[in-house]
Order: sequence, then C-alpha cells, then structure tokens
Amino acid sequence: LTDGPLKGKHILVTSGPTHEPIDPVRYIANRSSGAQGTAIAIALRDLGADVSFVTGPADVPPPLGLRVIPVETAREMKAAVEAALPAEAAVFAAAVADWRVASESGSKIKKTQGKLPILEFSENPDILAGVSQMAEGRPRLVVGFAAETDDVIAHATEKRKRKGCDWIVANDVSPATGIMGGTENAVTLISERGADEWPRMGKDEVARQLAYRIADHLVQN
Ligand code: C5P
Repeated sequence: LTDGPLKGKHILVTSGPTHEPIDPVRYIANRSSGAQGTAIAIALRDLGADVSFVTGPADVPPPLGLRVIPVETAREMKAAVEAALPAEAAVFAAAVADWRVASESGSKIKKTQGKLPILEFSENPDILAGVSQMAEGRPRLVVGFAAETDDVIAHATEKRKRKGCDWIVANDVSPATGIMGGTENAVTLISERGADEWPRMGKDEVARQLAYRIADHLVQN
C-alpha cells in the first residue's frame, strides 16, 4: 500500500472547519464537515505519501496511517502548518474562519437583563496565501479550494492569482447542490492551463482523481 508513486513524499493537508472562541463555552464555526479534506488525505496516503493532516474539529474521524495534528482555531492551524513544513505539496481543504472574535472573554459572558453583548471581529491570517507566497521553502505544489455560490470559475480564477497558489479546486456550494455536508462534489480544477470541469462524483473519487494529478505533477516537475 505504501509503495505508490508518492512514496517518501511529505504532503500537508488541512481540513475541517475552525472554531473561533467567544468565551470558554461558546464559539463561532461553519458547516464544513471535513469530508473532502479527509478523503484527500486518505487518497494521498494510499498512493504512498507521508501525510501530515492538520484538522479542525470535523464531523468525520481522522484517518489512520497518517500524522494527525488536531487544532481548533485559525491561528492554531497556521502555527501547525508552519511547524509541519517543509513538504513537497500542500493541499488546503480547510474551511478556515475569515474572522475571529477580537477579544475572547476569559470567563463566560453573563446574560444581563436589558443588555445584549456586541461582538467585534478581527481578520484571521490567510494560511493558504501565506504558504503560497513563502520566499523560501515553499512546497512545489500548493493547492487551494474555493467554495463559491456564483460565477464559480471567474471567482476561483481570480482567487488563484490573488493567493498565489498553483491550483484551485473550485466548487459550487449553493444550498441546492447539497454539496456542503453531502457525499458528492462537482469541482473545477483551475491551474495556469485554465479550467478543467469534472463531472459530479463522490468526494472519495474527487480525492482519488486529485491525488493522481498531484502524483503526476510531482513526478514530472
Ligand atoms: O478566500 P477563501 O476563504 O475563499 O479561500 C479558500 C481557500 O483558502 C481554501 O483553500 C482555504 O483552506 C484557504 N484559507 C486559508 N486561510 C484562511 C482562509 C482560507 O488557508 N484564513
């Protein structure tokens, strides 16, 4: 099983949502299940890769046979990614929260009669952009995801340029598609060569196809 084309290659995968604390008992989160990121980690492992799997609190259990680094917040995820590098390739499938609560309360915020809490936000670091733009030690292949609800290809193409990653796996997460939290995905792979639209298939199959392409790329470049 470990004798595949990615044998001996270290690949980093981020997955799952992040949780951004409000106080010790409350947090802000998103609907990412971690299913696609987990499937990608498994597919890379099955091609022989040495996988570091940095995961937020996901619905699906982390796979066996790889290095699991559990994190909660975007800032913890960034630190874990930096600690896991260098890697030959990095796949950023996590749904990182764009914002965190500016001043997390150290004690539980009390319900006070006639007074509603107001939350202020700060921007989280963009982990994908940071790694894509590393001056030294950048992975040879950096893959990001783009979950969009409209103009998927145009937005993802722009995102690829802005973040500086090599590939973007773009998908339409409009509620009607049932993709977020579901078992299927319909993705378009955006690279310097343009947009390659894949048919709708299981998330496991998307993961396998992506892992094959990553293996091809690392062998050829
Ligand atoms: O900008 P947007 O959140 O749509 O970008 C999605 C891509 O960027 C995903 O690959 C995600 O893992 C990555 N990302 C990140 N750090 C953030 C926000 C997004 O790595 N703070």
